[in-house]
Amino acid sequence: MIFYFSGTGNTYFAARKLAEALNDTAVNILKFKDMEEVVCEDDVIGFVYPVYGSDCPMIYKRFLRKLKCRKDVYAFAVATLNKVDYGSMNSIDEALCENGAGLSYSAWLYMPGNCMVSPDKVTKERLATAEERLSAIAGKVRNQVINYTSKGKGIPEDFLKLELGPESALTQFEILDSCDGCGVCAAICPTDNIRIENGKAVHGKDCTICFACFHWCPKQATKLKTGFKELDERSQYTHPEMTAAKLIRDKQGE
Ligand SMILES: Cc1cc2nc3c(=O)[nH]c(=O)nc-3n(C[C@H](O)[C@H](O)[C@H](O)COP(=O)(O)O)c2cc1C
Ligand code: SF4
Ligand code: SF4
Repeated sequence: MIFYFSGTGNTYFAARKLAEALNDTAVNILKFKDMEEVVCEDDVIGFVYPVYGSDCPMIYKRFLRKLKCRKDVYAFAVATLNKVDYGSMNSIDEALCENGAGLSYSAWLYMPGNCMVSPDKVTKERLATAEERLSAIAGKVRNQVINYTSKGKGIPEDFLKLELGPESALTQFEILDSCDGCGVCAAICPTDNIRIENGKAVHGKDCTICFACFHWCPKQATKLKTGFKELDERSQYTHPEMTAAKLIRDKQGE
């Protein structure tokens, strides 16, 4: 089983390609949102997620805390990212250590950024080579290559992690007058943090900072108000093979 989460499609694409190459099944972690425990008896488990603030997304960590797996599992993690990741693999390893297991293989797939802007040239190059790079990763997983030394239970490296809390500047959005209440953002939001009131989108406080609402808005009516110029003035990005309808169906488990 490959467990994934995706806000703008990069990770969805990666997880699906890996599943295809490994003859495995990829499942969106949102499927387990309301479960207290996720039991997986597979002898190979994959964790595929985007890096947020040099760590796994908060929603992915919520899922990791529920996971129950075998002690002798071969566990691999593939993080999609734009630039840098100090802590996410350690978070995966910690969750596995809670089960008496550990992370065996880690790989990074550089993709277009959906937080900081990637220049067009970089976006094109990364999209063009992603499939080839994923195929190389799948080859390593198939051969059960081990490249990660598990840190063991109780040795967290929190000093390198940037926790993106619910009151973070990155959760501040402004809804512009161009919002027509279409509901795309509300349907796509992985935490159901957006409701439509009086024909306009209204954000709540349970934000996992995926920026899906910003990137998928058909009217460009969701404006980031982080106070960081590079973020607040950035343009929308979505993976070319992903659509809002596909992501909503995926969230609903269809
Ligand atoms: C809030 C936020 C924080 C991010 N932080 C990082 C980061 O620390 N390092 C990095 O390399 N990329 C970072 N990114 C970029 C994403 O990891 C990258 O674009 C990823 O491929 C997006 O995957 P998705 O399309 O499946 O959502 C961040 C993205 C978001 C939305
Ligand atoms: S997707 Fe955009 S236009 Fe539609 S409700 Fe949300 S903010 Fe408004
Ligand atoms: S409110 Fe927007 S950024 Fe926050 S979790 Fe929902 S879609 Fe993602």
